Amino acid sequence: MSQNKELAQRRAAAVARGVAGKGIYVARAQNSELWDADGRRYLDFTAGIAVNNTGHRHPKVMAAVAEQAEAFTHTCFHVGPFEAYVRLCERLNGLVDTGGENRAALLTTGVEAVENAIKMARARTGRSGVIAFSGAFHGRTLLGMALTGKAHPYKTGFGAMPAEIYHAPFPNPFLGVSTEDALAGLERILASDICADRVAAFVVEPVQGEGGFNVAPFDFLAALREIADRHGIVLIFDEIQGGIARTGRMLSCEHSGVKADLVTLAKGLAGGFPLSAVVGKADVVDAPGAGGLGGTYAGNPLAVAAANAVLDVIEEEGLCARAAAIGEAIRTRLTALANRPGFEAIGDIRGFGAMMAFELVEDRQSKAAAPGLANDIVAKAEDLGLIILSCGTRANVVRLLTPLTIPDADLQEGLDLLEQAITASIGQLSKAA
Ligand SMILES: Cc1ncc(COP(=O)(O)O)c(C=O)c1O
Repeated sequence: MSQNKELAQRRAAAVARGVAGKGIYVARAQNSELWDADGRRYLDFTAGIAVNNTGHRHPKVMAAVAEQAEAFTHTCFHVGPFEAYVRLCERLNGLVDTGGENRAALLTTGVEAVENAIKMARARTGRSGVIAFSGAFHGRTLLGMALTGKAHPYKTGFGAMPAEIYHAPFPNPFLGVSTEDALAGLERILASDICADRVAAFVVEPVQGEGGFNVAPFDFLAALREIADRHGIVLIFDEIQGGIARTGRMLSCEHSGVKADLVTLAKGLAGGFPLSAVVGKADVVDAPGAGGLGGTYAGNPLAVAAANAVLDVIEEEGLCARAAAIGEAIRTRLTALANRPGFEAIGDIRGFGAMMAFELVEDRQSKAAAPGLANDIVAKAEDLGLIILSCGTRANVVRLLTPLTIPDADLQEGLDLLEQAITASIGQLSKAA
């Protein structure tokens, strides 16, 4: 029996089924390649879900972690503060443009950053309401799943959600939801469910991740900024998937020019080590009193060392520009494919930089979702040696998240495999029809 199959059996007997996922058991990984337990090589177009932006085991990141491990691995910042944590906060404060003086707090997971941003907004405003958006993904804790704008599977069976969380529509030009439609939905909530003066925060992904790589129209983000300013609401941009050079800018909101009060970061921040951050206006970040924020592992020294190295690598290797070039290569290839006769199932190609996706539909008129086709493409790509992921509220979107350090040869090889997988899946469909 293959090692992968044996591990799958052991997993079924030992691991909670709620922790679902792929069946490729990883033995080792380097930059954009990984090898499974049976020694098979794969190209990784997921980057651990937008985490390994600097590739698997970037030498500079590994060296920084090894050096830190020689000094100390854990103190708990509340007990034993250290310079690299302070330096990372200084750097993050300089990277996030809120238009004012910034402060930062380091946490461990993405959802923890989101929860802490909400705590800061509540402490600053003295209000409790939060408005998130349909299709959003903000994590799996009780508050995180409540903020997430997709019920199944994230909320299934988990009982009552925390109070005062509302979901306004997120624009989706592909499916005919305009900025005006979305803002009308928000105004309806403010008219019928909660008065604006009880709303502490809007939390929004400038480019939705799990929701299907839906790019928020710039006029929508600008309108949220204006409404937030008018009513004293804290505007939070969740940059956990789209941030850290992924879209060709350090933060995905920079494409729009709209500034947040608070930004949440995680994933790509520490190149695979668990670290997240809330960065934003000093008066909001500093609203909770001493002892109100933090955690035993928050700002772990190894992860902080990795993050400082990741920021160096992004600068030294010009990874924002590289992300833009990767995105162009992917878009060009997908567009050529979508324009071929017989490939009408590719209904939309979207994203920024190296955060690109394509949406699969039954036909371009009805735009009915084709989730089976998305699954088939993902499975066929895997058979061919390419790891990719689906996403989307209709589960019909395939997303591509290469490391930003991917060599051209690996990028082209992966795109060839993707093209083969799409061609085979669509060909199978037309045979069945
Ligand atoms: C936009 C966004 N916010 C929050 C999260 C939650 O992050 P974590 O899984 O690290 O808790 C994710 C994870 O995919 C995400 O994409």
